Amino acid sequence: MLSREENALLTRVGPGTAMGNLLRCFWQPFALASELPGADCDPLRVRLLGEDLVGFRDTSGAVGLIESKVKAVTYPGQERGGVLWAYLGSAKDIPRMPELEWTHVAASQRYVSKRIQVCNYLQNVEGEVDSSHVSFLHSKGAAPDAAGIQDLRSTLPDYMARDRAPRFFVLPTEYGMLIGARRNAEDDSYYWRVTQFLMPTYTMIPVPVGAPVSFTAATPIDDESMMGFTVTWHPDRPLREDEIAQIESWLGVHTEVDPVSFNPLRNKSNDYLIDRALQRSGRSYTGIRGIREEDLAVQESMGLIFDRTIEHLGSSDLAVIAMRRRLLEAVRALAERGETPYESRMADAYRVRSAALVLPREVAWNEGAAEALVATM
Ligand SMILES: [Fe+2]
Repeated sequence: MLSREENALLTRVGPGTAMGNLLRCFWQPFALASELPGADCDPLRVRLLGEDLVGFRDTSGAVGLIESKVKAVTYPGQERGGVLWAYLGSAKDIPRMPELEWTHVAASQRYVSKRIQVCNYLQNVEGEVDSSHVSFLHSKGAAPDAAGIQDLRSTLPDYMARDRAPRFFVLPTEYGMLIGARRNAEDDSYYWRVTQFLMPTYTMIPVPVGAPVSFTAATPIDDESMMGFTVTWHPDRPLREDEIAQIESWLGVHTEVDPVSFNPLRNKSNDYLIDRALQRSGRSYTGIRGIREEDLAVQESMGLIFDRTIEHLGSSDLAVIAMRRRLLEAVRALAERGETPYESRMADAYRVRSAALVLPREVAWNEGAAEALVATM
């Protein structure tokens, strides 16, 4: 549970707010590169951290954003990994961009999507760091078998279904935190889902070692809406056709959007096209098509800004609590003592991955998973 003051501190992102100032210490993904396709292309209206901006590319192809109504400033932009990034902080102190692995691989090795989500960004980040809801919300998919497309929910390891009360472990890192969710596997082993939380709003969702890895970012448009970026990449090879077909089945963490507005086609206004008969049949937990769509339904139905003074957290919410605590610490250190968050100066530390793996019970999870968590690109 948060106090009213803490909840406001974490969720208000506009100019001059404490969280707004913290987020402005970091580069923010704000558009797909294809939205500003080339030098001297048409400009792009961008609402970002409560500011109305115009994104552009100049004659040399360089990206920037103009705020013309209040401050008449130009903010620096960058293209990395098929995504456009903006830095809305102090011009005297521009940090390096985070060296995320997917920003270094060839375009054929990654898949990038963007969606608009109509709720405060923190509701999305909380969902991303929370492994325990997977055993419920995403426990059963019932998409019809089509041309080799697998419903990932039906292939979740048995461990996820058998042990629905994972124990959480959190370790601070130079970029944020490492979150280990432990479930019983066999008598002598545990199934570990290791999620990365990277300041300020990035996560990496656990995947089996060797499979394409997924990254998410929640960029606030303003207090009541956000842009979600999801990237799936393979560090060693191009994504295969079947992997792209899997992504574009929209059963997983990417979702189908309108190509102009980036609004999800299944959204609050059409009840996420929930299939009540399918849900009643027991073959699907939610009756909603994809994993991202299930998350959207939950996160948006919590309201535009969830009132965290009324919540009841338990031990399975440890990761959510730790993530919020780090954000609160960083917000206060900046607001009260002018301390820049150290993570914003740790560009190289962002070269990490997430992992899901089975380890012998006597092996410390962070040591057993260490090799799988290192990015090589
Ligand atoms: Fe989820």
